[in-house]
Amino acid sequence: MKKGLIFALISLLILELKSQTLIKQPYQPSPKALEFVQNLIQKMTLEEKIGQMTLFTSDWDVTGPTIRANYQADIQAGKVGSIFNAHTAEYTRKLQKIAVEQTRLKIPLLFGYDVIHGHKTIFPSPLAESCTWDMALIEKNAHYSAKEAAASGLHWIFNPMVDVARDPRWGRVSEGSGEDTYLGSLIAQAKVKGYQGSNLQDPFTILACVKHFAAYGAAQAGRDYHTVDMSERVLRETYLPPYKAAIDAGCFSVMTSFNEYDGVPASGNAFLLQKILRQEWNFKGLVVTDYTSMNEMVAHGIVADEKAAGELALNAGVDLDMQGAVYYNYLKKSLAEGKITERQINEAVKNVLLAKYELGLFTDPYRYSDAAREKATIFAPEIMNHARIAAQKSIVLLKNEPFRGRKILPLAKNIQKVALIGPLANNQEDMLGNWRAAGDISKAVTILQGIKEALGSNAEVKYAKGCDFKGNDTQGFEEAIALAKNAEVVILAMGENQAQSGEAASRSDLGLPGVQQQLVEAIYKLGKPTVILLSNGRPLTISWLAENAPAILETWHLGTMAGKAIADVLFGDYNPSGKLTMTFPRSVGQIPIFYNPKNTGRPFNAQDKYTSKYLDISNEPLFPFGFGLSYTDFSYQNMKLNKNQLKANDEIGVSIEVKNIGNLAGEEIVQLYVQDLVGSVTRPIKELKGFQKILLQAGETKTVSFKLKTQDLAFYTQDMSFKPEAGKFKVMIGTHSNSTQDLILELVD
Ligand code: BGC
Repeated sequence: MKKGLIFALISLLILELKSQTLIKQPYQPSPKALEFVQNLIQKMTLEEKIGQMTLFTSDWDVTGPTIRANYQADIQAGKVGSIFNAHTAEYTRKLQKIAVEQTRLKIPLLFGYDVIHGHKTIFPSPLAESCTWDMALIEKNAHYSAKEAAASGLHWIFNPMVDVARDPRWGRVSEGSGEDTYLGSLIAQAKVKGYQGSNLQDPFTILACVKHFAAYGAAQAGRDYHTVDMSERVLRETYLPPYKAAIDAGCFSVMTSFNEYDGVPASGNAFLLQKILRQEWNFKGLVVTDYTSMNEMVAHGIVADEKAAGELALNAGVDLDMQGAVYYNYLKKSLAEGKITERQINEAVKNVLLAKYELGLFTDPYRYSDAAREKATIFAPEIMNHARIAAQKSIVLLKNEPFRGRKILPLAKNIQKVALIGPLANNQEDMLGNWRAAGDISKAVTILQGIKEALGSNAEVKYAKGCDFKGNDTQGFEEAIALAKNAEVVILAMGENQAQSGEAASRSDLGLPGVQQQLVEAIYKLGKPTVILLSNGRPLTISWLAENAPAILETWHLGTMAGKAIADVLFGDYNPSGKLTMTFPRSVGQIPIFYNPKNTGRPFNAQDKYTSKYLDISNEPLFPFGFGLSYTDFSYQNMKLNKNQLKANDEIGVSIEVKNIGNLAGEEIVQLYVQDLVGSVTRPIKELKGFQKILLQAGETKTVSFKLKTQDLAFYTQDMSFKPEAGKFKVMIGTHSNSTQDLILELVD
């Protein structure tokens, strides 16, 4: 009896511990941390405080103007408290030594960096990794990124980037998780968990920084840094949830964005930074600007000069000025003029010092700068292996049609003669994609290398570049065509180079850049079995390929292990399972295009001219959200609801049987969507509400079950309260957003 009681108590405790780790909680400083930091602030001069509110770049890897050339002298003078773009155990130790040995209060420096998809070992680009729909894998990518970065002296990384993006002209779609709010929110949380772990005192974890707050992904016309204009309803419903999810997962810091929201640039926007972030979301961490975005408020036309920009920013709640030297140059004067208060300064300094405290830097400022640890961690086999798995799972099979009676993919391993053609075929740098930062190009496995290793010495794998990413030069075509003529199989590695997506890389034409399309068409005329490998940072308009090419693999920018992962998929060692997280348009004219628009009052009707459509192109995308094929096939049947009605605080079970009807084992991402048929404001035609990634052996059937809670049906109603409304809902399950079965449920009062 006694034993039983003890056992029950222990199980209860375990249960409680488990559920604690599941609870999402914003960061809260402990009373001990606050006491330490407040004591320190009392000892600081105004200059020292302003120093802590200043973040300067070293002279490595800059993405904008380098205003402060002499940052080392600034560290010595206590005028800068944080540095970014400086890494390696050795270099950070050198700079840290200046701060803790030569300044009056010996406050350690905080080192930040853009570790976006890996530090030295590069994982697939964020858009690519989102196509895995695999939260455990994404968390692990982040965990290993943090491990390498932390071993290189870094404390803080400027990621996750969670900007929902629906315009592929915007080059930064490659840095995010695509167009969906729900999926993007889950990914945001997985990344924060991966970077920060469960204990920031653990020197293998690192501070995360969710960015770019807010709505940066909605830049007009897809032009980077451009104006954002949207209703508060759209902001709250579509764009804000992923930032909130990151904060609920404990994300320590937030980076403001370059754009304005409702006429006020984000770095001076009190509605975003005070009302939403601090008050509604109870955020207690650090707010940093994006690169010189404080200064840029002058160009925005919201303030007349930089001094006023600093005042606007501090009054709005910005703690740390990235690279702008605005606080550095003007804050003292602003205080003397009474435009800001010392209390506001203390508040900002507190948030910066808390970061250093939480990381344990006041106890040991060098705990991240350990050369032996750096050597043992970077490129560790477990990290490289994981990078290969992450790359395999990010690949999306877009097309695989029969060619002379047989599906082209996977390719047989006994082929003798392969022609590998294209500017990405034998290319290390572009495998890493944009924002590779400190990623080591020399470690990247090319497609050529991957294929050669997979086929061994019996096969002849010949390579020709064919053409470049830019310009009109077709001189390489002849060699490429001759190679293709002699091959059993032709593999074309086409797409964008690393600089053709990412920051400041908007494009108005989303076809294959340069003369690549011409080269593809010339090769196709030969009538050989041909596979297209696409490497790119965004959805492309590839209607010709979709119509004419029998096999297309979307491989994005897969990182260090790209070539190996591509070969694994080409030859069937891994059966592709990725699904698109951004819609592929047929043409730029359809943009913005995404899976969940509103129905309109005149939904598409082919028979009626006066319905919502184009004269010259279909409304349908080329490849919809959630789409991705496998080397096997799946059938869906027997969709069921366990009841037809829901009440308040209730839940309903939805299930479907999924069968692998092909000959190979394969993974399938089963997707659940919901449409609220009538609302006090109009609702999207569907919204993703759940998904499951399952593995099915050939011939196997599994019943996939989802639970839909009443609260999952909530939205911003007409009076802007977030709640579900009674009425009918269409529940849909399927293999992608345009291929679903449905049933109706009713929410009753
Ligand atoms: C980018 C940020 C980045 C920062 C620091 C800016 O140009 O917008 O995403 O974190 O530079 O490198």
